[in-house]
Amino acid sequence: MEIKLASNYGFCFGVKRAIKIAEDYKNSATMGPLIHNQDEINRLKNDFNVGLYTNLSDVKENDTVIIRTHGIPKNDLKNLRKLNAKVINATCPFVTTPQQIVKKMSSEGYSILIFGDADHPEVKGVQSYGEDQDDVHIILEPSDLEKITFKNNKIATVAQTTKKKEKYLEIVNALILKNKEVRVFNTICDATFENQDAARELSKEVDIMIVIGGKNSSNTKQLHSICIENCPDSYLIENENELDINWFLNKKLCGITAGASTPDWIIQQVVNKIKSFN
Ligand code: F3S
Repeated sequence: MEIKLASNYGFCFGVKRAIKIAEDYKNSATMGPLIHNQDEINRLKNDFNVGLYTNLSDVKENDTVIIRTHGIPKNDLKNLRKLNAKVINATCPFVTTPQQIVKKMSSEGYSILIFGDADHPEVKGVQSYGEDQDDVHIILEPSDLEKITFKNNKIATVAQTTKKKEKYLEIVNALILKNKEVRVFNTICDATFENQDAARELSKEVDIMIVIGGKNSSNTKQLHSICIENCPDSYLIENENELDINWFLNKKLCGITAGASTPDWIIQQVVNKIKSFN
């Protein structure tokens, strides 16, 4: 069986940057998981003694605290500074952008609409920058707009970085139909799309597709859903231990892609294990 890697896959700029920061600050700890990849977090712990705070109350004066790529809510950041911790911000600049847009537009009297997943740490962080929390609304579908009452007659909208542009366009279209002033900010990150386009192309030509990444990573899940549209035998795995030899029976070409938080060493281990099935 032949193995073919997608023309774009794996770590994006923001994740590479965050890992480099964590490696530079040995013996520190991150506020929440630095990235959505447990194996890489374990490596940072083992090789660089980078720990993890689950609660603000765990932080002590003079601790070095790294803010994760998805960012944290504004008040958490403020409280960290009050604790006199040394704060190192590894928030991806593409996540800082919607935070700043929400801050600015809500201070100018705009109602805020976020296209994203309300439970995602990135969205919680972006939401926290709204001045009037009762006028920051989060939706996943255009139909959700019917449940919203905006306080103002001007609306600013941003999207979670990993969302699909097509769905964002649907939401924006629906918004414009009912509102006089809509400011649209395209905060969707292209790194995700480069990986998605490459996965889409590759999944059209292979018999089996392996998507490697964290099962709680939204961009990995999206890669998997794109692949499954073209290749029903598409599997999402976190590492080589989850591979099942039976998936590969009678398959000639295996495609591989990986989410934006998946390190090369994990991808290599998966490739090696698949090769060993031959
Ligand atoms: Fe940043 Fe885009 Fe990666 S938002 S963390 S560069 S997927």
